[in-house]
Amino acid sequence: MSPKRSSSTFISGFMNAMKPSSNKLAVPTQAPYSKRYAGSSLFLPTTSLVGKVAVVTGSSRSTGAAIACCLGEHGASVVVNYVTDAQAADEVVQAIRSQGKGGAIAVKANTATIEGGQLLLDEAMKTFGRVDIVVLNAGVMGSRTLDDLDEPFFDMHFETNVKVPLFMAKAAADLLPNPGGRIIFFSSSLTAASTVLPNALCYLATKGAIEQISRVLAKDLGSRGITVNTVSPGPIDTPLFREGKTQHVIDSIAKQSPSRRLGEPDDIAPLVAFLASEAGHWINGQNIRADGGYVV
Ligand SMILES: NC(=O)c1ccc[n+]([C@@H]2O[C@H](COP(=O)([O-])OP(=O)(O)OC[C@H]3O[C@@H](n4cnc5c(N)ncnc54)[C@H](OP(=O)(O)O)[C@@H]3O)[C@@H](O)[C@H]2O)c1
Repeated sequence: MSPKRSSSTFISGFMNAMKPSSNKLAVPTQAPYSKRYAGSSLFLPTTSLVGKVAVVTGSSRSTGAAIACCLGEHGASVVVNYVTDAQAADEVVQAIRSQGKGGAIAVKANTATIEGGQLLLDEAMKTFGRVDIVVLNAGVMGSRTLDDLDEPFFDMHFETNVKVPLFMAKAAADLLPNPGGRIIFFSSSLTAASTVLPNALCYLATKGAIEQISRVLAKDLGSRGITVNTVSPGPIDTPLFREGKTQHVIDSIAKQSPSRRLGEPDDIAPLVAFLASEAGHWINGQNIRADGGYVV
């Protein structure tokens, strides 16, 4: 194929891709705020998730568990995902069910594989009949410098942190309501921090990739009324963060926050619930740092 032909094929492919995939664009159907008084109370877009179904990868413990519980508290039914700790997943399920709002199921699935990610979506459809919100929280953070980098380590990071979230988003795009679907990726404040240790090489390469994937999908799926955003936490006190660090290193990282403490999973979950809700409908293609001011 000649270079000329290849570039025109690219341009026509680009123009086709720019066309909305359906004519059904998400247009506001409500009157503006100024006109929306019902009696004396102003009608506000809701943060309620009643009737919605969420899939949260890696949600038996740590940040994912807090997100699953928070979505459940807002009324969503949740697919809680684990890979090793069934008991922890059951506790999250019970916590959601005990609120008496949405339902919850635990699903064992390895989200380092495309099949594992697909299983979560299949189980959501089988049990709840729909998927509205996909939170791609599960991730790995190994610690190796360039000298120690090898292919299996690189592949393991890209499969878990990039490939599977991307293919889950692809599969979810056909299931999510349009308009109204939500995809939320997870990156890290470290992609913007001015001090980065050499052993963060592979981890941050994956997080940089997912941020770019999220930007592109926000434009692509945005034409169907599906929002795509990235949440970037700062240091959160979880096993993923503590692994391989001395208490001295942990304390010095905590001191870099204006609050002089590490984040907790509960600091992150309400942001995810907001993005997932109707109130978050106009936030699309953003990378939102939830780090207490760790990076400014
Ligand atoms: N912690 C931080 O400081 C920090 C900072 C910035 C960004 N982040 C990002 O935030 C996200 C959550 O981090 P975290 O610290 O909460 O992680 P974490 O402590 O490692 O989370 C553990 C959870 O992930 C599940 N999990 C791990 N591997 C899995 C797999 N292959 N398949 C399915 N589930 C799997 C675990 O399941 P089991 O219980 O079955 O083992 C558990 O529910 C990640 O994307 C991370 O990169 C974290």
